[in-house]
Amino acid sequence: GDFPVIAVDGPSGSGKGTICSLLARELGWNLLDSGALYRLVGLAARHHGVALDDEDALVVLAAHLDVQFGTSANQQEVSIILEGEEVTNAIRTEECGADASIIAAIGSVRAALLERQRAFVSEPGLIADGRDMGTVVFPDAPLKVYLTASAEERANRRYNQLINKGLGASLQAILEDIQARDARDMNRAVAPLKPAEDAICLDTTDQSIEEVLASVLDQARHKG
Ligand code: C5P
Repeated sequence: GDFPVIAVDGPSGSGKGTICSLLARELGWNLLDSGALYRLVGLAARHHGVALDDEDALVVLAAHLDVQFGTSANQQEVSIILEGEEVTNAIRTEECGADASIIAAIGSVRAALLERQRAFVSEPGLIADGRDMGTVVFPDAPLKVYLTASAEERANRRYNQLINKGLGASLQAILEDIQARDARDMNRAVAPLKPAEDAICLDTTDQSIEEVLASVLDQARHKG
């Protein structure tokens, strides 16, 4: 489509998810949570008894993913239905995130999800949240933002998120998972996590959500 895209990439816990949903609400734009797609392929694999190294079967699952995203008018409270079953919370576990990052290293699975991601571009614009939004999926996005924070700070944030959702969590286990996931996401051969050459990099370690949101909105208005 011809509508503008703001590509937001970065490692898990960098604040991307929160910033993207606030941006979508503030601007009234659509939201693509691309990580959810990889998590959904992982969950579908579990449901269908497909092993995470069975590339051919994973590609079939990715290509035929039966998923519906429900978004309210203010871009909040997204509900996710996989094969008729509500999985909004089920895909948010650390286990599901780890599965997603294993699956996401397979190039053919990424290719199978490419057009599905591009189809999210619609009027008046799209906030795209992921790891390769600026580098691969939306290379022509007029604004690309790369968010980072220290691994310790990201582990703290993830821990608090899970606790607030009423899910069990161990801070040490989360830190180890984040480090393992960073290593996998940054070192893989296909679409590794890295800032696009024309991305604006923001280190959010010592910044509040409000500060980060304000600086991204400021950039968006400059490009607008
Ligand atoms: O962002 P989220 O934690 O939901 O993503 C889960 C995993 O999916 C990431 O660790 C990453 O391996 C993978 N992913 C990806 N490319 C994206 C989004 C997510 O490889 N655009």
